[in-house]
Amino acid sequence: MQLGVFIPIGNNGWLISTTSPQYKPSFDLNKTVVQKAEAFGFDFALSMIKLHGFGGPSQFWDYNLESFTLMSGLAAVTDRIRLFATCAVLTMPPPLTARMAVTIDSVSHGRFGVNIISGWQRREYTQMGIWPGSDHYNRRYDYCGEYVSIMRELWDTGRSDFKGDFFQMDDCCCLPMPTARIPIISAGQSDAGTRYAAQYADYNFCSSGGINQPTRVAPSVARLVEANREIGGKCGALVLTMIIADETDQAAMAKWEHYKQGTDVEAIAWRDAQAEDDPTRDPLAGPNKRRTLGTDNLPTQGGVLVGSYASVARMLDELSTVPGVQGVMLTFDDFVIGMEQFGTRIQPLMRCRDGYQMAA
Ligand SMILES: Cc1cc2nc3c(=O)[nH]c(=O)nc-3n(C[C@H](O)[C@H](O)[C@H](O)COP(=O)(O)O)c2cc1C
Repeated sequence: MQLGVFIPIGNNGWLISTTSPQYKPSFDLNKTVVQKAEAFGFDFALSMIKLHGFGGPSQFWDYNLESFTLMSGLAAVTDRIRLFATCAVLTMPPPLTARMAVTIDSVSHGRFGVNIISGWQRREYTQMGIWPGSDHYNRRYDYCGEYVSIMRELWDTGRSDFKGDFFQMDDCCCLPMPTARIPIISAGQSDAGTRYAAQYADYNFCSSGGINQPTRVAPSVARLVEANREIGGKCGALVLTMIIADETDQAAMAKWEHYKQGTDVEAIAWRDAQAEDDPTRDPLAGPNKRRTLGTDNLPTQGGVLVGSYASVARMLDELSTVPGVQGVMLTFDDFVIGMEQFGTRIQPLMRCRDGYQMAA
């Protein structure tokens, strides 16, 4: 099973709480995390793009670095790990993103890929006056499809004359071409997002929520596998999971309970209000909630594995048996301590990571 880390580009990582570790993002923090990941044999590191925080007492995600520039810096201080930056398609024309990707391909010597996101929260775009409205929302994955097609043409041939509903290229050029194929990741959860991923992406994040329920993601992965089958796609499923670990199950659970006590309900309410433009699409979520990004009003996003090092290793092994799962992307309560614990205490116990041990 492949292993990745969702690096802390925003303050406080993925815990929306006032009692979890409180920290601001910096290049140095992310460099420490990615270099540790590389030393422990991780396959990839990915940074998100977030342009507006959720506020509340924890000022959740009010502090965020920019994804491409951060990954370019990290490319210069790593050697083996694959790196992915996230592109918010509404903010940059595809030829510019293609050129930025080629630049990081050059800095990283062929280790770079792009996560394409269609726009999760309207407020990120209305603050700049670039939200195209609900019509766009309904066709957001058609827009992404054209976007990726243009980048692929530019990367494969150096030119594009693509004419679509959203973009018209006019002998558009982008040289040099990348030294290696640039993979595309996506993170759609809706049916449209899943179909788009099957057609255009190498990997899609499947997310589930839930505490210590590693196989709860199975239906989401199954939808991707089915979309692959219908479309003839080869998109692999990656699963987003937070790890809160300690010497014993009790000690880990005590940390989780402590973080829950500080849940920043104001920030979570802000987050949930942002998704209100899609009340009908998602049969699994209530009104105003997109599928699976919120975890039942708990202070995190995605699923959480809480337990001793041995319990977490066992649950990750269980996750690796879900048909279609090709990898997991981890977050931690404290990324520096968590990464160290993972590399020295958890990974050595994981059967699905046999053969992946510390390189140095
Ligand atoms: C692992 C993961 C990473 C994501 N990264 C970002 C991101 O960087 N920026 C963003 O605005 N949305 C991000 N999203 C949200 C997705 O792009 C998408 O909008 C959301 O999952 C809802 O899916 P849907 O558009 O198919 O409804 C991410 C989601 C997941 C699960």
